[in-house]
Amino acid sequence: MIDLSTKYIGLHLKNPIIAASSGLTANIENIKKLESNGVAAIVLKSIFEEEILQQEKDLKNEVQKDSLIYSELSETLDYIDIHIKEDTLNVYLELIRKAKKETLIPIIASINCVTNYEWTDFAKKIESAGADALELNIFLNPVDTSDKDFEKTYIEITKNVTKKVSIPVSVKISQYHTKPAHVIQKLSETGATGIVLFNRFYTPDINLEKLELTQANHFSNENEYLNVLRWIALMSKKINCDLAASTGIHSAETIIKQILAGASAVQIASVLYSKGIDYVSVLLKELENWMEKHNYNYLNQIKGKLSQEKIQDPAAFERMQFMRYFSGIE
Ligand SMILES: Cc1cc2nc3c(=O)[nH]c(=O)nc-3n(C[C@H](O)[C@H](O)[C@H](O)COP(=O)(O)O)c2cc1C
Repeated sequence: MIDLSTKYIGLHLKNPIIAASSGLTANIENIKKLESNGVAAIVLKSIFEEEILQQEKDLKNEVQKDSLIYSELSETLDYIDIHIKEDTLNVYLELIRKAKKETLIPIIASINCVTNYEWTDFAKKIESAGADALELNIFLNPVDTSDKDFEKTYIEITKNVTKKVSIPVSVKISQYHTKPAHVIQKLSETGATGIVLFNRFYTPDINLEKLELTQANHFSNENEYLNVLRWIALMSKKINCDLAASTGIHSAETIIKQILAGASAVQIASVLYSKGIDYVSVLLKELENWMEKHNYNYLNQIKGKLSQEKIQDPAAFERMQFMRYFSGIE
């Protein structure tokens, strides 16, 4: 009997597959379907900080005085105009309650944060609604040209929240940092028990016939896991909190690779859209087959086996430039 169980941010997971925050985790029917197909935990669709503030208009006016992130570039202000309903906040809390009542797996709530304002009371409400953990999806827009210290804001938001709640808190970050290793290290010292590497954003493309912008890539492809693999391998043994891999994980092989690099769990979204929620059971079967074929009984036997510290050539994970190392390629 293969034991795929793992521990992530203090939660006992029956296997390493977590349904990442997405439209698929926004309603109870899908959440139940994800559970019945075997996912070990679910990260609910994020509630946006602006949605919370919308409910507390005075607070919102206060926050907007701090032009930090509420620049004209903030897409999320558009989001407010289009989508906000009065009762968004309560609907979200109700989803948590329902998911807890109707499933047995850990439910991780998710907040999309953009400021370090004292909005963190909402984190308390999430805890009271029964969420097993909270993931902070911190998004500070990298196109901001000011010299504001985004890394500092990440740290402050996380510290504020971890002070307020007693459930585990993880932080999901983007790939866009000047010094990712430094940010990951600092975040691991904030009280967060996990870091998710990395969030993914869709990017615009250009339609050459219509000469207009199109949205290119709602979903990841199966090669996008490589940068995540590098950073999981580089950081997993250097920090004192768990790492979850996210982006480009479409197969059991990729899941195994992320665990070998040192991830405690993986989060998947695109593959659920492209292959269907049922595909989780195929991934689980393939994970077991790989373990059996390679004579492993426990997932923990392979966790971190190929992290930077464990391999013969630790510099291999750090190599970035073609010129120096691959000059022989023609
Ligand atoms: C349709 C869609 C909606 C998403 N919504 C959220 C969200 O609300 N909050 C969040 O943290 N990530 C969100 N994500 C990002 C995913 O959680 C995940 O990190 C990303 O898609 C990379 O994983 P993948 O390659 O398995 O898709 C969304 C992704 C998709 C495809």
